[in-house]
Amino acid sequence: MNATDLPGAPFFSYQHQQLCVEQLRLQDLADTHGTPLFVYSKAAMLHALAAYQRGFAGRKAKVHYAMKANSSLGVLQVFVQAGCGFDIVSAGELARVLAAGGRASDVIFSGVGKTRAEMQTALQAGISCFNVESEPELDVLSEVAVSMGKVAPVSIRVNPNVDPKTHPYISTGLKGNKFGIAHERTLQAYQHAASLPGLKVTGIDCHIGSQITTTEPYLDALDKVLDLVEQIEAAGIAIHHLDFGGGLGINYNGDTPPAADDLWARLLARLDERGFGQRQLMIEPGRSLVGNAGVCVSEVQFIKPGEQKNFCIIDAAMNDLPRPAMYEAFHQIVPLSLTNAPTQVYDVVGPVCESGDWIGRDRSLNVQAGDMVAVLSAGAYCMSMSSNYNTRGRATEVLVDGDKAHVIRSRETAADQMRGEHLV
Ligand code: LLP
Repeated sequence: MNATDLPGAPFFSYQHQQLCVEQLRLQDLADTHGTPLFVYSKAAMLHALAAYQRGFAGRKAKVHYAMKANSSLGVLQVFVQAGCGFDIVSAGELARVLAAGGRASDVIFSGVGKTRAEMQTALQAGISCFNVESEPELDVLSEVAVSMGKVAPVSIRVNPNVDPKTHPYISTGLKGNKFGIAHERTLQAYQHAASLPGLKVTGIDCHIGSQITTTEPYLDALDKVLDLVEQIEAAGIAIHHLDFGGGLGINYNGDTPPAADDLWARLLARLDERGFGQRQLMIEPGRSLVGNAGVCVSEVQFIKPGEQKNFCIIDAAMNDLPRPAMYEAFHQIVPLSLTNAPTQVYDVVGPVCESGDWIGRDRSLNVQAGDMVAVLSAGAYCMSMSSNYNTRGRATEVLVDGDKAHVIRSRETAADQMRGEHLV
């Protein structure tokens, strides 16, 4: 593999045949902290953010990190310090933003099923906008706000019916999806929102999917959203901000998504053409800010030759890395030490009692029991989707900054897992 092709390069790179993160060897981190171990590069996160910031130079724009991608406090802190806002989807996520030192006024709240209690918590905290996903939600949010003597700032999430050409489980802007309000009903929904006493319309938003690797779906969605803004404003309802969601893909295995600044150069050109270039813009990227800023280091437990397949059994599993089992997602798996030993083809699997517990299929590796591997591109939607299945504790997480490693999550013990449970 070419060094620059390694997802996460140059922040993750081989130096003297050893895989390193910034200035540290992953093997040393694994020796100190044990495995499975998530390791993040702070510089990689800031580098990914900088591409958006370059793209938005001279514009009124705010990046709201979609924290569902990785909501660990130490990761949020990086984005708080970098001046980001946050896109949340639960009251739990709001609590995390506040615990990481973020401000409620920098938070927007997405999601199709906000509860009344979550609406109250968010209104009390003073978040900047609710991204409302249905007409019944408008009514309930207004009612809740009125009962608290408050007015809820709202943006309506429109479903532009655009195919993002990604995995069906992670496309969100198609007609058959549960997300957003249908394009055709948007104007009515805005008129309804404007008539409700507890709401103040502030913006419009859309999110068409995740791991999008081409520019066209964004351009299509942009045009549809701008058509709607024209209609809504012609009906006398002002739209202050335009929120284009997240979705930009990353390189897992030779994927070539547009760079964030190139994507935004194209989108801003279209916005300018249509006279919207000076509006307040917002985006909600998740994966593209953290996905290639993290890896999961795991130890090979056993090499198990089989009749049809050889298995490389590692100590990370589907509870740590759920994406292969859920979406048949591909993550590169590489040894921490490069050697010239002959390779064998393995299915790389975890210890969980499910045939679905695989991390990579048919992978060529030269490893033996006791060796360490890194599962790459593991910064997004891994720890945040991890579980305790098989009563496996969540892994340790380390955030690396230059030559310093900070433990941002301690390994979960069995006692941690049983906290809150009661014998009868
Ligand atoms: N905004 C909204 C309203 C979203 O629903 C999402 C992701 C984002 C922003 C962030 O999208 P991103 O920039 O990360 O693509 N667990 C799946 C991905 C699910 C994405 C759901 N929504 C995976 O592991 O691929």
